[in-house]
Amino acid sequence: MVAVPHSSPTSSRRAWSQLFQAPGRAFALTPLPILQGKVPGALRGTLFRNGPGRLVRGQKTMGHWFDGDGSILGVYFTETGVQAQYRYVETPYLQQEATADTLLLPNYGTLAPGPIWQRWGKPAKNSANTSVLPLGDRLLALWEAGKPYALDLQTLETLGEADLGFAHRSDTFSAHHKIHPATGEIYNFGVTFGPQATFQLYRCEPQGKIRHQAHFSVPGLKGLPLVHDFVLAGDYLVFCIPPVRLQMLPTLLGLKTVSEALQWRPELGTIVVIIDRHTLKPVSISRQDPWFQWHFTNGFVNDQGEIVLEMVRFPDFASNQQFVEIPQGQIKTYTKGTLWRYHLEPKTAKVITANEICDRSCEFPITLESQTGQPWRKTFMGIHRQTADIGHELINAIAAFDHHTTTFTMADMGPDHYPSEPIPVQNPQNPDQIWLLVVVFNAPAKRSELRIYDGDRLDEEPLCTLEFPKIIPPSFHGKWQPEALDHKN
Ligand SMILES: [Fe+2]
Repeated sequence: MVAVPHSSPTSSRRAWSQLFQAPGRAFALTPLPILQGKVPGALRGTLFRNGPGRLVRGQKTMGHWFDGDGSILGVYFTETGVQAQYRYVETPYLQQEATADTLLLPNYGTLAPGPIWQRWGKPAKNSANTSVLPLGDRLLALWEAGKPYALDLQTLETLGEADLGFAHRSDTFSAHHKIHPATGEIYNFGVTFGPQATFQLYRCEPQGKIRHQAHFSVPGLKGLPLVHDFVLAGDYLVFCIPPVRLQMLPTLLGLKTVSEALQWRPELGTIVVIIDRHTLKPVSISRQDPWFQWHFTNGFVNDQGEIVLEMVRFPDFASNQQFVEIPQGQIKTYTKGTLWRYHLEPKTAKVITANEICDRSCEFPITLESQTGQPWRKTFMGIHRQTADIGHELINAIAAFDHHTTTFTMADMGPDHYPSEPIPVQNPQNPDQIWLLVVVFNAPAKRSELRIYDGDRLDEEPLCTLEFPKIIPPSFHGKWQPEALDHKN
């Protein structure tokens, strides 16, 4: 168990800091007892989540939340009940550091140890910690600056780096792939170093094999940008490249981490690139007023032929500093991201309108995967409760925004409850009904829970709450796989 010291609202450390005091502990397949309510009868399938389960090795703490070792949570909803397992992605990097019992490798926000001449040119560690992609015969653990790792779907045993048929050794495969709901094709991208940043674009078969790979560069874009997510909207893919650029030299010399060497340069504006998803060729590029986003909810093309995007928009890049502070257990940098909708003209990539549609501090916007690229009714997200200490808190509630009624509904779990990104799941017997699956750290009860909410009634008690056998560290992203896996053990 993670040690849980006493905390109070007035102490300098908030309750969430308990989650970062020790690594999450792996556990084998275990039945989850029900604490309250009942699992919906038609809920059958598997929830997979990935996140940085270990941020401490030996006496050293990693320098950024993004650097933690990837650990996979699998929750299996079957005829005989709900079971879960939790297992680390056993990359060679993790094994090397485990053997040495210390951090050895540089990462996004962590310098390699030792004198400068030993740090120079060391490759970054692939943490395999950002998201998952269930394929027919394996599960991919994704990390945006490297290749995916393949895991056994049932045991979560690491099988090794996955070769999806990449054209180049240096190709990377982002965590925020999009699956076209009609064809099952997987769209994704990866940004690679060079004299100019190159965006590799992939269209993969539903089983993961790359069917079409293309690339583009943005004329005049100097330095390496930071692009975490993109949008599939109708016949288009859309990239919004925020004005964040990497200072290459100090990074290559091992003087600064990537995170430290990324500069916010608002004078460069945010660059919008629109791609034809069928040809993977650019349609238009424009430079717009600056903003920053990590995540989009989704996108579509409206009746006027405009591309509509939704994102959690930040005024600047300060959230990156917040993620430096999280492994240290204290947030000092407050920055507020809110839900925005942009309308773009496909031919020019110009912004027609940009509107804040909900002013609550939020992150991890999401909707049903089956609505990717199409209009959708409800956006689900993690939010901050509006308390006096909001600037020191992790996401501590979830909410839904209904675009038809423009109403906002919150699941307020009370103080010191910390949900990860909610995953919406469609009831196969009633497609209008959505269940939300949420992994919650309930600090007062010193346990992690799986809560199942009715997506139309977030302000009511969950339909069901189950207890995990151990504390689950906060995770970044997950996926729902409808078919239940056949567990023999
Ligand atoms: Fe993400």
